[in-house]
Amino acid sequence: MENIVLSNGVKMPVLGYGVYQVEPDECERCVSDAVEAGYRLIDTAQAYCNEEGVGNAVKKSGIKRDEFFIVTKVWISNAGYENAKKSIETSLSKLQTDYIDLLLIHQPFNDYYGTYRAMEEFYEKGLLKSIGVSNFYPDRFMDFSNFVKVKPMVNQMETHIFNQQKKLHEILKENKCQLMSWGPFAEGRNDFFNNTVLKSIGSKYGKTSAQTALRYLIQKNIVVIPKSTHKERMIENINVFDFSLSNDDMAALEKLDTENSLFFSHYDPDFVKFILNYKI
Ligand SMILES: NC(=O)c1ccc[n+]([C@@H]2O[C@H](COP(=O)([O-])OP(=O)(O)OC[C@H]3O[C@@H](n4cnc5c(N)ncnc54)[C@H](OP(=O)(O)O)[C@@H]3O)[C@@H](O)[C@H]2O)c1
Repeated sequence: MENIVLSNGVKMPVLGYGVYQVEPDECERCVSDAVEAGYRLIDTAQAYCNEEGVGNAVKKSGIKRDEFFIVTKVWISNAGYENAKKSIETSLSKLQTDYIDLLLIHQPFNDYYGTYRAMEEFYEKGLLKSIGVSNFYPDRFMDFSNFVKVKPMVNQMETHIFNQQKKLHEILKENKCQLMSWGPFAEGRNDFFNNTVLKSIGSKYGKTSAQTALRYLIQKNIVVIPKSTHKERMIENINVFDFSLSNDDMAALEKLDTENSLFFSHYDPDFVKFILNYKI
């Protein structure tokens, strides 16, 4: 597996396995399959309610802890200094680990500065190897990163061929912050896997739409965490390191960018209301 190096020197795999919408009782099986397929970065969150499944699979794998890169995220209802501290302890215990490789603020709502102060403390104690944010739009990221002690090392954002986050990516590069894609297949929206550009480019290399889409992001220096509950797809999705897209193919895929989300907007008060009410 190829790695990137975060601003604090920590190595992070460029491809991992995401467990959003993986049922808690299926999570251990899925992560075990992913580990057998070769994944070592696992992306979960307090809000996915499946951290235990991740912890069980990692523990039962028999593979040394330091070969894994475990990511989790603090949910909105656990925000604020004291609540976040308690929730990090709970995540450590559910994940059955002494440290978390990367902890993110899941969404920039509620008292996320308080959350981050707790994260900075845990980071300084070595219980978190790296820290960052998720769903911080360019303006929010710019503001936030100017007023915290430990600069966020990662921003995890909706990023796929239809929403390529070019502006955000430039800002993150200037701030030595790594862009990590969530929804690298846009969860299949927009008839993703049948996209004719993806299909025709992929066929030149004997690769699927899924593999072509992941390869595109990796070549743009974006970390990807595709999710699948099917082992054959997990194997397909990790099998993207034996080819390189040409400059022409990269340029053709770049044109698919609509610069719009296929999911939600933080500028939509109805969405904000919905997400603030999502209790875990
Ligand atoms: N920070 C955030 O706010 C946030 C938000 C969303 C997601 N995430 C993270 O990002 C990860 C990935 O995003 P996501 O799960 O939302 O969506 P995704 O990875 O873009 O897409 C997952 C969907 O694609 C299907 N799929 C996977 N591989 C496939 C293949 N090779 N061929 C055809 N279909 C395939 C899966 O179906 P099957 O499972 O049935 O195979 C599933 O329906 C999440 O699991 C989570 O860890 C973070």
